[in-house]
Amino acid sequence: MLTLNLIGAGRLGKSIAQLAQQSGQYRLAGIYSRSLASSTAACEWIGAGQVAAQLTDLPPADLWLIAVPDGAIANVAAELAQAGVVNAGAVVFHASGALASDQFTPLAAQGVSAASWHPAFSFAEPARAVHTFAGTLCALEGDAQAVTALSDFSAAIGGQPFALSSDAGAKVAYHAALSMAANYLVTLSDLALQTTAKAGIAPEVAQQLVCSLMRQTLANVESIGPYAALTGPIVRGDAATVAQHLAALPNSAQAPYRALGSATVALAGKRLANPAAMRQTLQRKEG
Ligand SMILES: NC(=O)c1ccc[n+]([C@@H]2O[C@H](COP(=O)([O-])OP(=O)(O)OC[C@H]3O[C@@H](n4cnc5c(N)ncnc54)[C@H](OP(=O)(O)O)[C@@H]3O)[C@@H](O)[C@H]2O)c1
Repeated sequence: MLTLNLIGAGRLGKSIAQLAQQSGQYRLAGIYSRSLASSTAACEWIGAGQVAAQLTDLPPADLWLIAVPDGAIANVAAELAQAGVVNAGAVVFHASGALASDQFTPLAAQGVSAASWHPAFSFAEPARAVHTFAGTLCALEGDAQAVTALSDFSAAIGGQPFALSSDAGAKVAYHAALSMAANYLVTLSDLALQTTAKAGIAPEVAQQLVCSLMRQTLANVESIGPYAALTGPIVRGDAATVAQHLAALPNSAQAPYRALGSATVALAGKRLANPAAMRQTLQRKEG
């Protein structure tokens, strides 16, 4: 049985520690958080582990999960290195989507293995998260020993590990991709709903209309990829309709429509006979 220490008893930390304990392959050893109240509550909720009042009270462990907010990871790494509490041969990892394993440079210099491990999942409520986590993709980047250890860890708790490059900028590019996919989908749905309001469609109907079309489109992207899934006036070369859209859109949707329209011309590639004419229409300002 391998052991896990948890630093940062928040939403992700509690959920992952609980999943590790439930796997039967890992045992939660120590829990340290900024406040004793959080670590005590986490310890009670998980039903395992020992609360550490100080970082230096943490016992040796095979894995150390640093589940503090992104802005605190480097400080915790520096404190751990300064205190020299991480045992040789251990694997230290954080769960940030944007930061890479180089946050642990001071620990790596002491011979500790280091990785960044990002489950693409929203841990809003730990009690719900532990029941719905299975199948989650976990992006993994770091030194070879840490990557091997965390591939096993991911699989043991029901995740699907995949490797990211450790090249500079790769981790942040991964995070930018996820942000566009998740956050901008929400923004797009809102812009579409502002536009349906201009068309006089009732909000309940509009929500159903927009979400069901988005779901169908996503299913197409999933099965045949973005190039083949693309439909609509831009790929058809229907510049007159695009011009009418621009005249009808609310102000808030003008710039996003034009910017995404240009990206859509690029995606359409050879399917669009006259891309220059479409770009011109997209750039033309009324009045
Ligand atoms: N939540 C998600 O859906 C999610 C998804 C993927 C990745 N992540 C990543 O997971 C990490 C944790 O996020 P979270 O959402 O779980 O945050 P969170 O709920 O705010 O929890 C963070 C915990 O860290 C503790 N903490 C803060 N500074 C600390 C320090 N210097 N030393 C020790 N403990 C400290 C806090 O302690 P107290 O409670 O004791 O004050 C809190 O319990 C972040 O890197 C985040 O990017 C989160």
